[in-house]
Amino acid sequence: MFGPLSFMWTNFQIRNKISWQEVVFLINKGKFIVFEGIDGAGTTTQLGLLKQWAAARPGRLGEFFFTQEPTDGPVGLLLRQILSKKTEAPDEKVMALLFAADRADHQQTILRRLNQGVHVFSDRYLLSSLAYQALSVDQKWIQTVNQYALEPDLTFLFLIPVEEAGRRRLRTRSQEELYEKEFFLQQVQLEYERLAHTQNKPIKIISAQDGVDTVFQSILDVLCPFLTEKNRDGGI
Ligand code: TYD
Repeated sequence: MFGPLSFMWTNFQIRNKISWQEVVFLINKGKFIVFEGIDGAGTTTQLGLLKQWAAARPGRLGEFFFTQEPTDGPVGLLLRQILSKKTEAPDEKVMALLFAADRADHQQTILRRLNQGVHVFSDRYLLSSLAYQALSVDQKWIQTVNQYALEPDLTFLFLIPVEEAGRRRLRTRSQEELYEKEFFLQQVQLEYERLAHTQNKPIKIISAQDGVDTVFQSILDVLCPFLTEKNRDGGI
């Protein structure tokens, strides 16, 4: 490693007191990318398309792993029971704790893949708790119970008129889930937008009301340069 890049990394090493081995590890680590939005915004559809796109182009942008919250782990399964109203919903403080516990469980899976150099895509993560549960539970406390959560390298936040998200849910869901009330989701979306503008994090807003192909193209327009070598350690 010579030239300006080497100089940059040496400076980075000195500032952060890390070894060359750790630098090599950081360079080879996968990126953690999260898709967020209100119910019906289309994150799951777009992640499905991305999965197909990646399968047709193996290794083009590196290896991808897809995951979601709630997870398929024990706490995630309980959450799914509650969300589908098969089990009575507890207080929102308890919900916040359950989502945080499920996330802690999720952590090992995500870290293992990132450490193997695989890019991990999660359908929802901490921002969901900050947008949904923080409407009725103290945000600082939610941050505290999630203090070990990973920082995504990039978040796609899907914004959509709530009425359109409602129409999509009617087409795709057999029954209404716990949080799927238009008035509530309006507040959630406002909170998402507020967080995107105040958190100073790499959050990319996607206008999700356009056709599926248009939305997918706008994701690729951000993702391809983000995951290519040149930008691996840059911003969005
Ligand atoms: P899901 O059926 O996966 O919805 P979607 O396909 O739209 O993602 O259900 C996830 C629900 O759980 C959704 O209503 C958002 C909610 N949720 C929270 O309230 N807090 C959280 O931390 C997470 C991860 C999800």
